[in-house]
Formats: sequence, structure tokens, C-alpha cells
Amino acid sequence: MADLVIISSSIVRPVINSQLGRTKIHLTPFDLTHLQYDYPQRGLLFPKPDPDFHLISRLKTSLSLALETYFPFAGRLVKVENPEDNSVSFFIDCDGSGARFLHAEAKSVSVSDFLQPDGSVPSFIQHFFPADDIKSSDGVSEPLLALQVTEVKDGVFIGFCYNHMVADGASMWSFFHTWSKICSSGSGSDHQPLILKGWFLDGIDYPIHILVSETERPQPRRELSPVAVTKDRVFHFTKKNISDLKAKANTELGSSELKISSVQAVSAHMWRSIIKHGGLSREKQTHCKVAVDLRQRLNPPLGKECFGNMAYLSSAIATVEELLDRGLGWAALQINKVVKSQTNENCKTFAADWIKNVKNLKLGVGGRVAGDTIVIASSPRFEVYNNDFGWGKPIAARAGPGNSISGKLVFFPGIDEGSIDVQATLWSDVLVNLLADVEFVEYVTTV
Ligand SMILES: *[C@@H]1O[C@H](CO)[C@@H](O)[C@H](O)[C@H]1NC(C)=O
Repeated sequence: MADLVIISSSIVRPVINSQLGRTKIHLTPFDLTHLQYDYPQRGLLFPKPDPDFHLISRLKTSLSLALETYFPFAGRLVKVENPEDNSVSFFIDCDGSGARFLHAEAKSVSVSDFLQPDGSVPSFIQHFFPADDIKSSDGVSEPLLALQVTEVKDGVFIGFCYNHMVADGASMWSFFHTWSKICSSGSGSDHQPLILKGWFLDGIDYPIHILVSETERPQPRRELSPVAVTKDRVFHFTKKNISDLKAKANTELGSSELKISSVQAVSAHMWRSIIKHGGLSREKQTHCKVAVDLRQRLNPPLGKECFGNMAYLSSAIATVEELLDRGLGWAALQINKVVKSQTNENCKTFAADWIKNVKNLKLGVGGRVAGDTIVIASSPRFEVYNNDFGWGKPIAARAGPGNSISGKLVFFPGIDEGSIDVQATLWSDVLVNLLADVEFVEYVTTV
């Protein structure tokens, strides 16, 4: 939107770059698979605070305190050259360099412009996120966390992006929650020190060596597909819609002890419906990539609150024919199986194999323009509406344009308990057909 003005840009550092000094965080294969991914972009829409709330100064002061605890976000990525084998290695240096903080204003935009009644996402939203086209590997010079606070006519949008090698969604939202609590209480002293995940891969030496050629920056997204137009849409699944889908999936599978979860049922519904309209031949293989949190899957398990990136994208695979002919329950079962297969043993085998043959990093998420993949990011378990900075709870959650391929689905909890919002990025023609498909729309409600 033409009238968005950046009023200021600054770097916010932790007040005290504390006791932990220059902690080095070494990167696992699970982190390094994200090397060429865009920084994920997320944001929350809020009502407008009172003018005497002193929005910007309070947000910056509390951010500085929050970064004392969440010091990895204030660090930088460091690249080390290994001339002996023409490779490079990376680690995170928690050097207190700081996070970027932008203050912007878009006077002609109001809250209702964000919340279209049919769930469509206005294209101006891309300007409400702080960085465009930054990849994890850019963290050598770019902050690992950037935030943009945009004041609109009757609200505030806090957009942010972060380096996925530093944190996954679970850790990012726990940071965000701490920040909001410090801001609303005005005090930064009453929270736990951060627990880092540490190196949990016995028998694998760090730093991992990556061939220089794999770390070259891929071509910009736009040049890959100059004509393709994707659109974003938010689909709302009510508690009833979700329990109906879940019951349908579980009934189709019969009375075995297998339990399809709500997220798996919704994911399977999206996967089948999008592929149905993708124009692919029936024998074509399709992928449904789901982010699995590995913390509790390792042995010994890592604490749920342990900070870092422990999300691993694993892929359920089915041909178009199988997806369409075998039903919702079958598709949900493929997702259920791939999640279950992330055992301690499989994680460690994956890591050991990965370092022996580091390749295909350059594909990033954006490599697949074929329309045969859906990627499920974020989770309805992240409590996005639980972040009150002191002037009111969020009204809506949205994702930004990073890592956009047709088939990117970002899951958020809906504002009503037990509901789910799915922000889908799809080719325009796929979206048109999807909206006309009664079997799809019967389970969704546009907000
Ligand atoms: C989806 O939820 C809405 C609102 O609860 C409801 O009206 C609609 O019938 C639901 N669809 C199905 C298939 O249950």
C-alpha cells in the first residue's frame, strides 16, 4: 500500500548481554536444512492502544529486556571457511548485536481492511512485515529477528520474521509471549533462564561441513515464476467442522486403535481438496509436508520449553489417484504415519545420513513450483491470542509472503476456542475451483 511510511528503523539490543557471554550455538542437520529458507513471517493485529500508552517506547524497552533472556535472537550467524575441503561451516554467535525494530504508519488502512468477510487476504499485507526475501544464510549480516510495528487507523499490526535456524515456531511464540508479558507488567525479572537444546547428536561432530556450492544464494523467487499469481485466503474451521472431519476420518478407518488428530484431519482435507484442483495427472506423486516437533520424540526427550529449532519437515506421499479414491481417513492415516515415524532412531539416522551427503539445500522451500506439494507450517497449538502487551488481546493472526509456494498452509488457532484458521497460499485458478467445490466448502466457514 502506497501510503505505508517507515517512521524509524533501529537496532534493539539486550540491556545486559549477560552472564552467558558469547555463547556459541552449533547447528544440527535439522537447523541446516533451513539454510536457504526465507525467514518465516508472522504477525498479529491488535486494537489501538490509548495515546498515553507510549506504544513504541514501551515495546522497545520491553523488547530489550526480553532479549536478555532470549539472547540467541540478538546474535548473528557466523560463517567459517574450511579451505581444506572447499566447504564452510556455520554457528550462531550470541554476541548481543541486537534485533531490528521498525516503526511504521499506514493511516489509510483500518482493521476491517485486514479482516475481509470472505477470508481473502489483502495484498497490502506484505508491507506489514519487516523484511523481504531474507534467507537463513543471510543471518551473517542481517539480524536474526526483525519486527515491524505498524500503526493503522484503528489498530496496530506487529509483524515479525526470524531466522529458522535459531528458533522454530514453538520457541518463537514463547519469546513473543515473554515479550508481551514484560511489556504489560513493566517488569522483566520474573522469568526462567533459557534452556538451550544443546548438542544431542552423539557420534556426529560439529561444526558440520557444507560444500561452498550448496551455500550460494538461489535465484530470487520472482524470476523463477514471472507469470504465476498466487493468492492468500484464510479458511476458518469451527470446532464442529473439525470434530466432523475427525469423526469422518476415524469412521472410514474403522475401529482400530488408531486415532486421527484434529490437525491431521484438517490437513488431510486440505491436501485432498487442493490436489483435486491442481490439474495433475492421476499417477503423479504428491507430498504433504508437515513440521514435526522433535523435542519429545528424542531419547532422552528434550523439555517442551527448550529453546531452538526442533522442527523437522517430513513428507507424507501419495499419488493423485490414491488421494482422491481412498478417502479422507486414508489420507489422514498417511500423515499420522509419517509423524509417528519420527522416532529417536529415525531422527538420528536422518542426521547421520544427511551430513554424509549435504545436497539440495538451494531448493529451499521455493524450489517446488509444480503444485504437487502442500506444506503445513505453524500449529494451532501456538497460543497466538495469549499475547497481551497491555492494551488488549490480538484480533487476528496472519502469515507474511516468505517461503511462498502454491500449497503453503499456515495453521493458527482460531479466535474461538477449539477452532482452526488456515491461511492458504494458492495459484488463483486453484483457489477459484476450490471455492466452488461443495465437498471442500461444506467443512469451512469464512470468517
Ligand atoms: C461447519 O461449521 C458451521 C458453523 O459451526 C456449520 O454451520 C456447518 O454446518 C459446519 N459444516 C459441517 C459439514 O459440519
